[in-house]
Amino acid sequence: MDDLTIIANEVRSCRRCELSGTRKNAVPGEGPASAEVMFIGEGPGFHEDQQGRPFVGPAGEFLNQLLTSAGLNRNDVFIANVVKCRPPGNRDPLPEEISACSGYLDRQIEAINPKVIVTLGRYSMARYFPRDKISAIHGRARRLDGRVVVAMYHPAAALHQPALREAIEDDFRRLPQILADALKQAELARKTSKPEDDGAEQLSLF
Ligand code: URA
Ligand code: SF4
Repeated sequence: MDDLTIIANEVRSCRRCELSGTRKNAVPGEGPASAEVMFIGEGPGFHEDQQGRPFVGPAGEFLNQLLTSAGLNRNDVFIANVVKCRPPGNRDPLPEEISACSGYLDRQIEAINPKVIVTLGRYSMARYFPRDKISAIHGRARRLDGRVVVAMYHPAAALHQPALREAIEDDFRRLPQILADALKQAELARKTSKPEDDGAEQLSLF
């Protein structure tokens, strides 16, 4: 079994926080291990809890449109959430729920090693930019631990607020360039990495 399947199975039977008591289905997230871009939302809503899949309600419809505008196929990206089980009534996830669940997301990121992480909304943004304001940094690519992280508004919030909607639409339209730059950077880093770090096989290429 591959790492992502192992993690997903653990999530489905997880009882590490009280959200396990009210969920219908845990929502581990979905996408291929080869994804170059990973989106991290907040937590499952009603429809996600019903189906056990991320972003399948109205916010998901909007996310699908945004992905299309960025030239991305939903099947090629990984879509996850900060908490894998629905908070009752769609309340905000509690700090103890986020920390109980964070190991799963950490392991998903490690397994996928995406070139670009897009955070959707404040809870996933807080993992990377706890002191920043979304209004100040949305859409800006930042290098962090050898990859690029971009904070964006949450599609559910942007759906019904024209100013935010325009902002998230603009930010998604810039994603192809952000990804192209990140891929170029990664390639450059690979080429310029010291031969002794690459092992004997790589050394023979020089
Ligand atoms: N909102 C989220 O943050 N995640 C989902 O999966 C659906 C809606
Ligand atoms: Fe486990 Fe995360 Fe679900 Fe809590 S939210 S029960 S930690 S999978």
